[in-house]
Order: sequence, then structure tokens, then C-alpha cells
Amino acid sequence: MIGPIQLSATGIELRLGGRTILDGADLTVPAGHLAALTGPSGSGKTSLLTVLGALQAPDRGEVLYNGSRVTPRTRHPWSGRVQIAHQSFGLLSLLTAAENVELAAQGLPRARRPDRRALRTAAGTALDSVGLAARADHLVDELSGGEQQRISLARAISTGPDLMLADEPTAQLDAENRERITGLLLDLARRGATVIVATHDRELTERCGLVFTLRDGVLQ
Ligand SMILES: Nc1ncnc2c1ncn2[C@@H]1O[C@H](COP(=O)(O)OP(=O)(O)O)[C@@H](O)[C@H]1O
Ligand SMILES: [Mg+2]
Repeated sequence: MIGPIQLSATGIELRLGGRTILDGADLTVPAGHLAALTGPSGSGKTSLLTVLGALQAPDRGEVLYNGSRVTPRTRHPWSGRVQIAHQSFGLLSLLTAAENVELAAQGLPRARRPDRRALRTAAGTALDSVGLAARADHLVDELSGGEQQRISLARAISTGPDLMLADEPTAQLDAENRERITGLLLDLARRGATVIVATHDRELTERCGLVFTLRDGVLQ
């Protein structure tokens, strides 16, 4: 962690393919909180998460980190401090689990990029925290869907993010691992990170201090 990030979004509108996907979303998540973004499939959770992570610019409205406006063009200084675990994992199948985790450091500003040895250690610690230390040297293709999901989460936490956005982080997991990952996300928030999950998982939502519900692109 470098320092807390309070995330605010005001009046977020997003149009894609001629349709309104998000219609004026406003939300604030203070540092140290775990927040859930819930709502039916197709309600706009993933779209809002990519806007909050400044991977996609809204048509209207703005996203603020600690009061500073952030856009896809101005996100670079925040990279490494802001990590996103995507719904489809985004792993490279020709690399091992550990190599995929180490990729997160590529997004760090040069001055903060660890050397090879520190990188290996950070990847090992992150894989251990998702229960996959023993799978470090396996190729992604040799792993189950749930294991791949946990590797994508390990990658996101490996740089010690101040803001973590996770899209359906428990979708592919069994009960034991849902509990493990829920604990991990709570722990990140407890240590001061801002954590936002898009989720259908009712047990995870119940553990979130803040819950935002989307319906047809409108926050309820
Ligand atoms: N690139 C895109 N172009 C057009 N429509 C999109 C695009 N991405 C998502 N959508 C549409 O936006 C709506 C919200 O999608 P999404 O944010 O993925 O919802 P959720 O994550 O809640 O299931 C859906 O109707 C989806 O089809
Ligand atoms: Mg989604």
C-alpha cells in the first residue's frame, strides 16, 4: 500500500452500441471499505467496474480518486495502486501461474518495479494467500476454472493495491474457496484498501459494508 484511495463517481452515463448501459450512477466508497455492486446479469456491473477502474471513459460524469479526476488517459500514475481482477480472468495460457502473477508488476511505474527476486517472492506470497502455492509452476491450461480465478485474484493483490476492483471474484469457486477469497477481500479492506466487487454471491454481499444495486444501468 502507498496510501488510501477514496473513490467517488458522479453522474456516470455510458452508451455502447447505441444503447444506454449506465444512466447517471453516483457512488462513493471510502478507503478501508469492502463494497458490493450487485444486480441481475446485464444490469451494468462489469461496465461500471471498468469505468471505476478508468479502463473505459464514460460519456458523461466523472470518476475521482481522492478528489482527482481520473480517465483512461490519466490513469498511469495510479497503475499498480489500482488493480482489476476481470470476470474472464485475463490469464496467458502459455505462462505458468507464477509468471501470470508476476505480470502485474509490468503495470508499475519503473521506479516501483521490483527486481526478479522480489517479484518471485511477491508472486509466491500472493499465490499462497489464495491457496495455490503448490500450483506456482503449473501452466494455466493445466488448472481448473476455479484455480484460474484464484490466480487472477493473486495477480491483482500481488502489488499491494490501494484500490481493488474484482468482477465476480467467487463465481467459479467452491464453498471453501468462496470463504477464503471473501476473507482475503475483507482483509485487504481492513488493512486500508478500497475494495469493490461486482457479485451475485449472496454470502459475499452480506459481508460487504456497502451494497450498491444496479437495475438496467440505474443505481437503486
Ligand atoms: N462493448 C459493448 N457493446 C455493446 N453493449 C455492451 C458492451 N458491453 C456490454 N454491453 C451491454 O451492456 C449491458 C451491461 O453489461 P455488463 O456491464 O456486462 O452487465 P453485468 O456485468 O451486470 O452482467 C448488457 O446489456 C451488455 O450486453
Ligand atoms: Mg459482469
